Amino acid sequence: MALVSLRQLLDEAAAGGYGIGAFNVNNMEQIQAIMEAARETESPVIVQASRGARSYTNDRFLFHLMQAAGELYPEIPVALHQDHGDSPATCISAIELGFTSVMMDGSLLADGKTPSDFEYNVAVTREVVEYAHARGVSVEGELGTLGGIEDGHGSGQVHLTDPDQAVEFVERTGIDALAVAIGTSHGAYKFTKPPTGDVLAMDLIEEIHRRLPDTHLVMHGSSSVPKPLVDAINEYGGEIRPTWGVPVKEIQQGIRHGVRKINVDTDLRLAITGAIRKVFAESPGEFDPRSYLKPARAAMQAVVAERMQQFGQAGHARDYEPKPLDEMQRLYA
Ligand code: G3H
Ligand code: 13P
Ligand code: ZN
Repeated sequence: MALVSLRQLLDEAAAGGYGIGAFNVNNMEQIQAIMEAARETESPVIVQASRGARSYTNDRFLFHLMQAAGELYPEIPVALHQDHGDSPATCISAIELGFTSVMMDGSLLADGKTPSDFEYNVAVTREVVEYAHARGVSVEGELGTLGGIEDGHGSGQVHLTDPDQAVEFVERTGIDALAVAIGTSHGAYKFTKPPTGDVLAMDLIEEIHRRLPDTHLVMHGSSSVPKPLVDAINEYGGEIRPTWGVPVKEIQQGIRHGVRKINVDTDLRLAITGAIRKVFAESPGEFDPRSYLKPARAAMQAVVAERMQQFGQAGHARDYEPKPLDEMQRLYA
């Protein structure tokens, strides 16, 4: 079983100067696609589940699928991460289930919509850190808020991360990784034109990394929304409006300045949808789910493998021995 803590993956990524994609999953085909891409490129990887994914899969299915991934891909170090935990209770239930890492997103109140205040964020994040580290599990916190709303999550308002607050937040919470808000948003509709420096604050990443050189930074909303994936959907009857995502070269600039975890969900959703639409359009008589899920899985694998190369994690799966969580627990103590 190669389920490892996020902390070990990110410490190794920092030492090697690369980033690691954190890909969202909701079903078996997505897990298979990510693991196959990891094997193909020899990459360590982060598989993450939102609260919506956990309720969709009745999370025991999800956890057992991840255990199967550990058995079938023993050479791949994988962190199983709770994405956007909305309360300590959500994070604790993920840890009890066997997740090796959690995000306590205290930038929003427990409704997942209302921006919180700094003291609330510190208090809930610190509470999760104490519980998690005592069990060898890593914690990601978030300061500032992203734009966009996914599945009812998100305030829709952008509040960029304040570097002074970031220093205090990391000191007071003891988190392993800090998600920063730099102008990205969740979902397909991030920008109406290619983002320039005034909408995507890459200089903020540089400033926060300068002030917190030992804290692993996390970029949410990092899908690039490639035009070919959007076109593939629209060519077969879809209606995705013209849109731009985060250019890979901006993510690579972030990686040079302390970004170690890069969250990608939307690009995978686009790849799956385009592939399924193609089968439905070209073979309207088809009704065996395998006939459209197989190409969907392959399309997703291709996107994940490409990101693994671009983020630099490719080739690093066998660099180190995975540490069991009880060893991480001793290290935290
Ligand atoms: O945080 C956003 C991720 O894309 C997960 O989205 O809440 O719809 O599963 P979701
Ligand atoms: P995208 O919507 O850009 O893929 O972002 C996903 C994300 O940040 C998950 O937490
Ligand atoms: Zn996110």
